Amino acid sequence: MQNLFIRIPSTTANLGPGFDVFGIALNLYNYFYFEIDEHSNFEIFSLENELLPFSQINKNLIYQSYKNVLLKYGYTLNNLPKWKVYIHMEVSVGKGFGSSATAIVAGVQIAKKVLEQDHIEIDLEKEIEYFLELENHPDNVVPARLGGWVFCYDTQNIIRKELPEDLGLSCIIPDFSISTDDSRSKLKEFYPKEDIISNMKGCILWLEYIYSKNPKYLMKALISDKIHEPYRYPQIPYIKEIREFITEISCYGMSLSGSGPGIIVYYDKNNEEFYKSQLNAFIAKLNLKKEIFSIQYCSPDYTGLVVYPENIDWKKLIFQNSKSLLI
Ligand code: HSE
Repeated sequence: MQNLFIRIPSTTANLGPGFDVFGIALNLYNYFYFEIDEHSNFEIFSLENELLPFSQINKNLIYQSYKNVLLKYGYTLNNLPKWKVYIHMEVSVGKGFGSSATAIVAGVQIAKKVLEQDHIEIDLEKEIEYFLELENHPDNVVPARLGGWVFCYDTQNIIRKELPEDLGLSCIIPDFSISTDDSRSKLKEFYPKEDIISNMKGCILWLEYIYSKNPKYLMKALISDKIHEPYRYPQIPYIKEIREFITEISCYGMSLSGSGPGIIVYYDKNNEEFYKSQLNAFIAKLNLKKEIFSIQYCSPDYTGLVVYPENIDWKKLIFQNSKSLLI
């Protein structure tokens, strides 16, 4: 069996009011190179050949996703084809930019590769079904697979859109991590009717922003969430200062990226230089005493999963293309 080299975009989910239902794929990528090797045991290495901590089978989401698919097609734990994988991530794990989703999508791709040998094809609907068995909210996994702004109701009802071209995005990334489970444990079990209505209004405003390209709808949408941000923001240092600053410089707004702790800031790309210099200076000031945040600028990705041709020089491609290595 040939090796497999793929690229999957990071994502930002929720976008304020769309808790668990929509997200955007970003042009910050995770690369996965699978080497089929019967002597290995699903280990995960960095490009520098360091064994990564989430290689352990019970923490290894790529393996869990792969195994979940193959066990449905007659494979057993004893005869799963083995591989090792090299990964390069442009946003690290536990920051709220969908690293788990990229691992789940990657696991299904290597399972598909194995099944192709057996002349079994898995269509997109089935792929999405398998993603959701591992992560039962679609707002990261489905944009990661498809690219774009994606709303997912279920495996058959997916709405994919392109965003207005003049939308600028930047990721403010704290130096600590939060697991999705911890972050979800902060949420309430039941919400007042008014809170749910506020989020429903915000979701419609998001759609109207996409159709009309009028940022006034986006600005309102980004302040409508009552389901998750109020309970998660208190975990993030300087959140009040960040919000005040982005209001002061007239960004459109911000949202907590997925379950956090990353934040995504929305602004007018026509004035990108202004926003970059302001945001860079602000983050540098917050970091004066101690490095707390990093900042990355990005755009929506509309490609989703990319499977590279076999025999491509995968390391060279990563070194030539990865923004994090070019900095
Ligand atoms: N919608 C999810 C959450 C995204 O907010 O918990 C994280 O995977």
